[in-house]
Amino acid sequence: MKTFSTSRGDFGLTRFPEDSRDQLRAWDASDEYLLRHLEDREPSGTLVLLGDRWGALATALAAHRPVQISDSYLAQSATRANLARNRTAAEAAGVALLTTQDAPPDRIDVLLVRIPKSLALLEDQLQRLAPGLHADTLVVGTGMVTEIHTSTLKLFERIVGPTRTSLAVKKARLIFCTPDPARTGAPVTEPWPRTYTLPTGIGAMSGRPVVNHAGIFCAERLDIGTRFFLQHLPRPRGRARVVDLGCGNGVVGTAVAVAHPQAEVVFTDESFQAVASAEATFRANVGRDVEAAFLAGDALSGVERESADLVLNNPPFHTHRALTDRTAWRMFTGARAALRPGGELWVVGNRHLGYHVRLRRLFGTCETVASNPKFVVLRAVKPA
Ligand SMILES: C[S@@+](CC[C@H](N)C(=O)[O-])C[C@H]1O[C@@H](n2cnc3c(N)ncnc32)[C@H](O)[C@@H]1O
Repeated sequence: MKTFSTSRGDFGLTRFPEDSRDQLRAWDASDEYLLRHLEDREPSGTLVLLGDRWGALATALAAHRPVQISDSYLAQSATRANLARNRTAAEAAGVALLTTQDAPPDRIDVLLVRIPKSLALLEDQLQRLAPGLHADTLVVGTGMVTEIHTSTLKLFERIVGPTRTSLAVKKARLIFCTPDPARTGAPVTEPWPRTYTLPTGIGAMSGRPVVNHAGIFCAERLDIGTRFFLQHLPRPRGRARVVDLGCGNGVVGTAVAVAHPQAEVVFTDESFQAVASAEATFRANVGRDVEAAFLAGDALSGVERESADLVLNNPPFHTHRALTDRTAWRMFTGARAALRPGGELWVVGNRHLGYHVRLRRLFGTCETVASNPKFVVLRAVKPA
């Protein structure tokens, strides 16, 4: 564990799930810069923290009873653990942990924004928070230089009010924004969630609608790996329990429910926006009589051992390689535990990622169901 030293105290912080091999800190220079900026401006009134990655800001500012708003189950879990480790039970209980899907406070006096990776998520959240801002709300954003673009500043300008940036310090920058009631009170023209229609030639979901909340994976169009997966999905038998693991907008699990209405589908993702999208996609395509569950969790943390017949997974990629490798491994080991003997894990992935090696190590066997020059669909069976 590493120590985050601030003028408000020293805090031992970890990411979630805690991993002793993890050399990455649970905060960065942008958190440090923001806290230094607040040293001579003690926040008062309702303090909202948007996008606090691992709870470093919530832990340091716990005495102000902040409201943390996060899209991530992992971030929320890290915040809980960091608060429990560094704060008294009463201080920790004073921090409200909301998801991006919860109603935000009606009145916000201080808004601190750790710039999220997704511009769409920032747009959506600023639009949701704007009605609670008033002319005297202190609004400060923070992020690494590489995360703050002209488009980021334009969003603050458009939704909140006049915006300027600080000098860069240790490659971090602050954003200062003065709320303009004419902008914060303006109606939202293109609200999230947004729906698109799927192409034809992809099996059960051909030509069907898919609903996307802001910031989720492939919110604007179908991913080519997912497309390949949809063309090669298994046919579960009878009342099979199927898990759409890392469900995103739920297109994979909904395809199973449309083709096999007697199956029960569990949708799970670490993004609250994704879980809400999956539920909306499912409701837009499947009748109320089909059984389904929608869970936010880390990999299969919300699914009981040996309760599933089939797990379908398009593991995350793109972000930090070592981290996403670990996530894929957690998903595969979680799937092995969640499957009944004889149950199957089906995975789609880029060929070069070499998932078959891991699956063979875990399950003993791994078969290629389909492949094209870019992707493979793999099947691993839990030994009986
Ligand atoms: C490549 S996307 C696949 C989304 C969807 N299944 C599809 O094919 O369009 C991977 C998904 O895994 C989710 N994810 C990332 N880390 C996770 C974790 N630790 N536990 C559960 N889901 C996670 C992401 O939020 C994302 O929705």
